[in-house]
Amino acid sequence: MAANWKMHKTVREAQDYMAALLPRVADFAGEVDVAVFAPFTCLSEVARMAEGSGVIAGAQNFFYEDSGAFTGEVSAPMLLDVGARASIIGHSERRELFCETDEAVARKARRAVEAGLLPVVCVGETKEERDAGRMWEKVSGQVRAVVEGLGEASGGQVVLAYEPIWAIGTGETASPEDAQDAIGRIRELLGELRGGEFASEARILYGGSIKPGNISEIMAQKDVDGGLVGGASLEVGSFLELVGAARD
Ligand code: PGA
Repeated sequence: MAANWKMHKTVREAQDYMAALLPRVADFAGEVDVAVFAPFTCLSEVARMAEGSGVIAGAQNFFYEDSGAFTGEVSAPMLLDVGARASIIGHSERRELFCETDEAVARKARRAVEAGLLPVVCVGETKEERDAGRMWEKVSGQVRAVVEGLGEASGGQVVLAYEPIWAIGTGETASPEDAQDAIGRIRELLGELRGGEFASEARILYGGSIKPGNISEIMAQKDVDGGLVGGASLEVGSFLELVGAARD
């Protein structure tokens, strides 16, 4: 279960959150993998506090070059340096607002795997694309671009997140059947591209308006391995409910 804080929380707020979260998630150790994707400014603190707890501290983005004249960017070695072990890549907000292309997303995913960061690569269609019957064309293209660039990575080194753009932050969740349909097809495609072992080892999350009231039916779907959660992850109490639902 992954918390995507997006552009929220100061260092102090992050400390308070982690101090409340860590003792409670200890109950789920070994049963549910928990990750917190924090803004760069509080990531080192989140990682420091999470050390030894099993909670994965992650970034929300990075650039695929390791160093150089890339003003405003942060690299994979820099994330590792502050204790991050994962990064979201190609979130729809980055693709749409910051012009990230499939090619850039694929290069970031490849760099993450090489560097030893767990990539959580987001894919998903807009409302217009879904209504026009082009959901799979969009999503399969995004998945192919990433997987074809991954080199020798095993399925266990990759997490994908299906996040239909129309369901993000809108309160409108994909139906559990829609989530299963898309995620089941993504898993089949992984099998075609990389074989059955890769497909079964890769974790595929659903994201988009997950909340305590809908998590159980989403998690009950055969191919859904977990959730990437924005709004409902900002409060420790609701995030813990989601972690608990992932165990049940
Ligand atoms: P949401 O965001 O849970 O607020 O819809 C999910 C995401 O964008 O990762």
